[in-house]
Amino acid sequence: MKNRQLVNIIFALLMTLSGIANADRIAIIGTGDVGAALGPEFAALGHEIIYGSRDPERDSVQALVNKTGNNASAAMPTESVVNADIVVLAVPGRLAESITAELGDLSGKIIIDPTNNYIRDGVPRLATDTSNGEAIQAAAPGAHVVKAFNTLSWRQMVDPGSSGGPVSIPLVGNNAEAKEKVAEIVSGMGLEPMDLGPIQNARHVEGMLVLWIQARINGEPFDYHLRKTPTR
Ligand SMILES: NC(=O)c1ccc[n+]([C@@H]2O[C@H](COP(=O)([O-])OP(=O)(O)OC[C@H]3O[C@@H](n4cnc5c(N)ncnc54)[C@H](OP(=O)(O)O)[C@@H]3O)[C@@H](O)[C@H]2O)c1
Repeated sequence: MKNRQLVNIIFALLMTLSGIANADRIAIIGTGDVGAALGPEFAALGHEIIYGSRDPERDSVQALVNKTGNNASAAMPTESVVNADIVVLAVPGRLAESITAELGDLSGKIIIDPTNNYIRDGVPRLATDTSNGEAIQAAAPGAHVVKAFNTLSWRQMVDPGSSGGPVSIPLVGNNAEAKEKVAEIVSGMGLEPMDLGPIQNARHVEGMLVLWIQARINGEPFDYHLRKTPTR
């Protein structure tokens, strides 16, 4: 068992024992790299995961359900969100807005948006004049969108220590309670939540990937994490 998994299990156990367990039902739409990274991490914190997949019976989806445990399941995307408190959009960035609209009424739910939407050919740039975070908030006006997890690789989501230092997770969104809830999850994973203001700042957080792509093109790949200024 990896140290990270052990820490997650101990954290979930402590939360339960201390009576502050606040397990949510989390629908994760998409079962690719990000969905498969976040699902087991969230389940280890005590949350119940339901994967929203276009093909919930697929062997790979069922294997992910088994790996996730804690009463996890899979269903079609529209079905998965019905009783969910939190919806994670682990889907291709160019489709995130339309997939959100197809999920039906998400009012009152928290939407975690880890998507990136960029154009790679020519000069790398965002594929939107605003941001996916803002477009998703407009597509689900009654929901509380929190942009999170778009600034790191899925590998660091499951193993933050692999980055060689603290990994910050910028959180932007308009609802303070929703950001606090997502910050709790982020902390439980061994990552550092950082509130960076309203959802309109999603365009800057999403823009960080554009610089990362440019650096890769230049042959100088780097990890990008904001580090808190040390207190003196
Ligand atoms: N990969 C990373 O390290 C990373 C890190 C941070 C952020 N992100 C962002 O997070 C989002 C998800 O990334 P990912 O790497 O997990 O992507 P991915 O491996 O391509 O998975 C996306 C998933 O979305 C679902 N999906 C629904 N409609 C789809 C459609 N029409 N075509 C293709 N897939 C569809 C699929 O799950 P079903 O087949 O089960 O429906 C698919 O497995 C992206 O916006 C990406 O930019 C990625």
